[in-house]
Amino acid sequence: MTAAGAAVKVAPVQPESQPPVSRYFVKSFGCQMNVYDSERMGDLLAADGHVASEDVKSADIVVLNTCHIRERAAEKLYSDIGRLRKPRADGSRPLIVAAGCVAQAEGAEIGRRAPDVDVIVGPLAYHRLPALIADARNGRAVDTDMPAVSKFAHLPARRHQGAAAFLTVQEGCDKFCTFCVVPYTRGGEVSRPVTELLSEAEALVASGAVEITLIGQNVNAYDGGVADGETTLAGLMEQLAALPGLKRIRYTTSHPRDMTQALIDAHATNPKLMPYLHLPVQSGSTRILKAMNRAHTRDSYLATLERVRAARPDIALSGDFIVGFPGETEADFRDTLSLVEAVGYAQAYSFKYSQRPGTPAATMADQVPEAVKDERLARLQAALTVGSHAFNIASVGRHTEILLERPGRKPGQLIGKTPWLQSAVVNVPGARIGDLIPVAITAGQPNSVEAVPLEPKRAAA
Ligand code: 5AD
Ligand code: SF4
Repeated sequence: MTAAGAAVKVAPVQPESQPPVSRYFVKSFGCQMNVYDSERMGDLLAADGHVASEDVKSADIVVLNTCHIRERAAEKLYSDIGRLRKPRADGSRPLIVAAGCVAQAEGAEIGRRAPDVDVIVGPLAYHRLPALIADARNGRAVDTDMPAVSKFAHLPARRHQGAAAFLTVQEGCDKFCTFCVVPYTRGGEVSRPVTELLSEAEALVASGAVEITLIGQNVNAYDGGVADGETTLAGLMEQLAALPGLKRIRYTTSHPRDMTQALIDAHATNPKLMPYLHLPVQSGSTRILKAMNRAHTRDSYLATLERVRAARPDIALSGDFIVGFPGETEADFRDTLSLVEAVGYAQAYSFKYSQRPGTPAATMADQVPEAVKDERLARLQAALTVGSHAFNIASVGRHTEILLERPGRKPGQLIGKTPWLQSAVVNVPGARIGDLIPVAITAGQPNSVEAVPLEPKRAAA
């Protein structure tokens, strides 16, 4: 609902003394979906005549794009607001926008706990950001609607810079894992039409992107959207692969239930699809997976990975894990450790279970004590590091290409990404960020590899 009425009196957005052009700063918390949304909110503000600010301290408008997935993520919003509301040397404070999933789930609570917030906008309504900022002149403006119309149709052209870009192709979730807030904050699964995505991808490539990561809460549930009918993720990626300037395609995050054979086959047949799969498992215990409502078992997950490996033997696998879900015993946790050993993940993300209000697991009996969660997380992370280190060591000797992303710590060093999403540290005189360069991998560290440049003709994909 849009409510422009003032619950609390706040400072006017643009007092007479402020310059006519506002500088904005968007701070992103959480997942890649939020990184994409933050970029798009920046596009909206730029199209509305505002300019990007280098830092938060000199911004007139600060957007905090929040994440609600775990407790700590929400707390960060309140500590940031606390800092922003303190008057600056000239007595002013920025206009504060709380956006994202915390805004969606706890809009009313934010209003109570942080009266200085001027705009509260959810992840499905941020195309209205310029209008809400204008409304905030008369008091706090709120829009946490889940509108039937797609926000994407109302966004301006993308102004992305950089060789790697995210492209949201799907949003929302119908899976209702018992621990997770996403179905409540992002709504049901919706796919964007293929035509809309192809033109956004073309614009990205025209502005210099060579790698596009297709993102969605359940990206492999992509179905082509209402407008363009049934098209699978594999079909979309096939069409994207036809864009000549595009060199690399990735996708994340997938659900084991939607890992179709067509998608698995794409790993063998689509030459631009990178050999990397992020497939969250959450637990290695079928009993816990059932309590989580994951719709897969330990064995069905392992069988899926076997099919993936048959299609693409060198694939790098990644997963998400939760330790200390209600009722998790030491034996259940050992099942997770043995699954980690069996799979040999190249990368992984692991979390302590966090009770999220309104989710079924929050009120389940047998909540696991914090100290037990801490101890299990440490053991799991140690096992995952052993796995990623082994994967990196096994890559030594490979000739491949890396996409240079940023400067390294030492002078002359650059960091790039291998096809398997490893960070590769390299020294290449004359190379620039955004270049794809042929390298040989020479050493494997726990979280990265070292590489040396190769003559172009010696590189093999
Ligand atoms: N507690 C801990 N981790 C969670 N995740 C989602 N909800 C919770 C929660 N309540 C993790 C899952 C998911 C990732 C994005 O965040 O592992 O895959
Ligand atoms: Fe959350 Fe499960 Fe949906 Fe992933 S699949 S967003 S973990 S409910």
